Amino acid sequence: MTDLATQLAGACIAAFEAEGLDARWGAVKQSDRPELADFQCNGCMGAAKQAKMNPRELAAKIAPRIAEHEAVSRVDIAGPGFLNIVVTDAALSGAAEFVRSDTKAGGGAAPNPEKIVVDFGGPNVAKPMHVGHLRSAVIGDTLVRLLRFLGDDVTGDVHLGDWGLQMGLLLVAVEEEQPDLLYFDQSYQGPFPAESPVNMEDLSRIYPMASGRSKTDEAYAKRAQEAVAEMQAGRAGYRALLQHFIDVSVAALKTDYAFLDVSFDLWKGESDVDHLIPDVVQLFKDKGLAVESDGAVIVDIARQGENVAVEGKDQLKNPMPPIMLLNSRGGTGYHTTDLATIKDRVDTINPDRILYVVDARQAMHFEQVFRAADKAGLFAYDHLEHPGFGTVNGQDGKPFKTREGGTLRLADLNAMALEEATKKIGEANLSGDIGPDEKAEIGKLVARAALRFADLQNQRTTNYVFDLERFTSFEGKTGPYLLYAAVRIKAILRRAAEQGFEAGTIAIAAAEERKLVLALDGFALALRLAREKRMPHYVCEHVFSLAQAFSAFYAACPVLKDGVEPHVKASRLGLCEAVLKQLETGLGLLGITAPERM
Ligand code: ARG
Repeated sequence: MTDLATQLAGACIAAFEAEGLDARWGAVKQSDRPELADFQCNGCMGAAKQAKMNPRELAAKIAPRIAEHEAVSRVDIAGPGFLNIVVTDAALSGAAEFVRSDTKAGGGAAPNPEKIVVDFGGPNVAKPMHVGHLRSAVIGDTLVRLLRFLGDDVTGDVHLGDWGLQMGLLLVAVEEEQPDLLYFDQSYQGPFPAESPVNMEDLSRIYPMASGRSKTDEAYAKRAQEAVAEMQAGRAGYRALLQHFIDVSVAALKTDYAFLDVSFDLWKGESDVDHLIPDVVQLFKDKGLAVESDGAVIVDIARQGENVAVEGKDQLKNPMPPIMLLNSRGGTGYHTTDLATIKDRVDTINPDRILYVVDARQAMHFEQVFRAADKAGLFAYDHLEHPGFGTVNGQDGKPFKTREGGTLRLADLNAMALEEATKKIGEANLSGDIGPDEKAEIGKLVARAALRFADLQNQRTTNYVFDLERFTSFEGKTGPYLLYAAVRIKAILRRAAEQGFEAGTIAIAAAEERKLVLALDGFALALRLAREKRMPHYVCEHVFSLAQAFSAFYAACPVLKDGVEPHVKASRLGLCEAVLKQLETGLGLLGITAPERM
C-alpha cells in the first residue's frame, strides 16, 4: 500500500502509456483548488503539444481510463485540459486506516537507499559552540533521522575540530600557567597521568584569553603556531595533553547536544586521521597532482577554461585557488584533514555518499576538497555534497551576537530557551495539577521543540532572525504549537478511554474529515522531497498543515460529545489515532518529542 497520490499517479501513467504517450505526463499532485477536486494531473497539455494533438481531446481519452481506478469517484476536465480527480470516501477511509496501521505512519521508503555518512555538528575543541553550530547540529541530526527512517544506512559523525591553531593556543597558555607539568618536558615520553590537568572551566577561560592575546602579541602567536606544528609532528607530551583537551570538551559537548536531543554515531575528530596524512599526500604525489611551491605542497584544482561562476555557487572564486596539502613547516590544515577523513571513511565505512552539513560560507572549501578528492580518485565528486545553511541573525539583520557583542554559546542559548519556555507554559496556564518534576521535564521538551522547529522550518539555505519570544509561543508556526496539537489529541484519546469508548473502523464522510485525510496522505511526498533536497523544512510544513487540518476537523466534527453516533465516534477516534501517530512520527524526525500532557 502507498499514499493515494502515488496510486493515482500509477493510474495516470498507465492511461498516458495506453495512448502511446510518455509516462512522465502522468504526474499527480494534490489539487490547487480543493473546492473542485482532491488531486490533479496536468500532463495533457504538455503531452498534446508534443504529440501535436488537441489537449482537450486527449484529456477526454485519458479521463475515462483514470476513472476506472477504484479510488476514483469522478474525473473532470477543466480549462485547456486539466484533469481534476475526486476520490471516493472509501478510498480516503482506506488511506487513513493505512496511516493508522503502517509502522511508518504512511511515510514511505527511499526508492534508492544508500550508505551515507553525515558529517555535522563540527564543534571545535575548547572553543565554545555558537549559534552557527546549533544549525549544523539540528539540521544534521534531522537529516540523519530522516534518511535512516527512509531506509538509508546512515552514520553520523561529529567531526571535531581538534587539529588547528586553537590547540596550539591552548598548549602555550597551559604551559604558561603550569610550566612544571610532565607534558611540557620534551625528554619525557610517558606514561602520562590519566587525569586531566584542566577542566572545562579552565578551557573556557584560557581559550578566549590566548586567542585574544595572539592577536596583539606576535611572539605569542608564533609560539602557538610552533606548538601546533610540534603537536602535529607527534610530540608525546602535547599529544597526551591534546587528548585531555578533547575528552574534557567532549563531555561538555555531550551535555549541550543532549538538551537538543542531538546524537552522533561517531565522535571522531581531525586528530584521528593524522596517521593517514602521509598516505594521502603520497597518493597526490603518485598521481602527479602534487606540486612543490615555496616549500609547501599544493594541488591545483582549477578547471580548464574556468572563468564563469560555478552554477549556484556565486560566492566561489574563479578560477578555483589551489589547496595546500602541506605547509612549509610540514604541517597540515583544514583541506588536508578533510581529505584524510574521506580516506578514513572509505577505509572504515566505504559509504556511497558523504554529506557535509556546514555553514554555506564554507562552500568554497568544500568545492576545493571535493575536486581534490575526485582528482586523486579518493571519492567521486558527484557523491560528495555540501548541504549548506544560512546564518542566524539578530534583529539588526547581522549575524547574531549577545548583548555584550560576543557570539552566543550554545549552553547559554539552551538555558535562555528553557527559561522562556518555562515562562510561557506558566502564562498559558496549561498545566493545572502537574507536579514540579513533570513540569521541569515539560519545560525542556517545549524549549527543545521551540529551538529545533524555529531552525528547521526555514528553508535550509536562508538566514533567519533569532527571536526567542516568537519561537517559544504556543501560537503560530512554532514547535510549542505542534506540541500543543499532539497533547490535545492525546487528551481526547485519554478521555475516550476513561469513558469506555474505543476507536473503530474509519469511515470518512464530512468535508473536514476528507481534508484531514488528504493532509495525512501528503506525508510520503513531504519526506521524499526532504530527502531528495536535503531540506527538513518540507517535514515542518507537513506537520504544521496536519496540525491545522486537525484543528479544523476538531472544530467541525465533534468526537466525544453526547449524541455523536457510536460508529461515528469510533471512526473519529480512529482518525485521531492516525493523526497522532503521523504527527508524532513527523515530529520525531525533527527530533521533537511531545509530552503526555502540559
Ligand atoms: N569545525 C569546523 C568549524 O567550526 C566545521 C567542520 C565541518 N566539517 C568538515 N568536515 N569540515 O567551522
